[in-house]
Amino acid sequence: MTKLELQYEGKSKQIFRTDDEGKVVIRFKDDATAFYNIKRAKIENKGKMNCAISSMLLGYLNEHGVATHYVEQVADDEQLCRVVEHIPLEIIVRNIIAGSMAKRLGLEEGLEPENTIFDLCLRGEELGDPLINDHHAVALGLASYDELAKIYEISAKANLLLQEVLAQAGITLVDFKIEFGRDAEGNLVLADELTPDTCRLWDTATGERMDKDRFRRDLGHVRETYEEVAKRIANVLK
Ligand code: TMP
Ligand code: ASP
Repeated sequence: MTKLELQYEGKSKQIFRTDDEGKVVIRFKDDATAFYNIKRAKIENKGKMNCAISSMLLGYLNEHGVATHYVEQVADDEQLCRVVEHIPLEIIVRNIIAGSMAKRLGLEEGLEPENTIFDLCLRGEELGDPLINDHHAVALGLASYDELAKIYEISAKANLLLQEVLAQAGITLVDFKIEFGRDAEGNLVLADELTPDTCRLWDTATGERMDKDRFRRDLGHVRETYEEVAKRIANVLK
């Protein structure tokens, strides 16, 4: 595999073409942004830590029946991934109430509902990733009802697998965001990162935040926290 030119650059990742049309290299940057770019910083080592964390978790999902775009880690901060047709929807899975759900509904962070909550958001910064529902997604032509049902099914399975691994690392999976794509055969593929940028992770023993909320809320020790998450997951999965 040879890495070719930069194809796309986002806030926290770059995507490079490769000599294989069906694969891209995703590079994780040290940049952190929150609140739609209002808050920005570089967090030293974040790219490498996020690449390591995402590679371990996506590799684990691949091996346990959840198809993802991840192929292999090719550098400290780079992954080789399959090209998929991206679906511009964000699925947020919530095990514990926190963040925007707590705010929107006036609930205390930390409440544990008996059911798992699935939010569907339209991906698009101009509108602020608005919360939508299945009917909106179908009306917008983004996915069929059948695909949405499968997306929730895969998301629920990923949630159980991730909760199990993270629990062994002493980490509680509060919530996370994932996106999907379709492969050449039309199969749904989890095509996203799984990192402390996109998951809420709480230390099971202390309740300490171990994710991007440390950056969003100025809690300090951002770099050390990402390093600790990577270390703990490696202890379980490597
Ligand atoms: P929220 O509480 O802001 O809705 O976020 C829920 C989870 O989804 C949290 O773990 C962060 C993640 N997330 C993203 O990764 N990207 C996003 O654009 C948003 C809104 C949330
Ligand atoms: N969508 C949010 C932003 O752009 C993501 C976050 O806060 O993590 O800032």
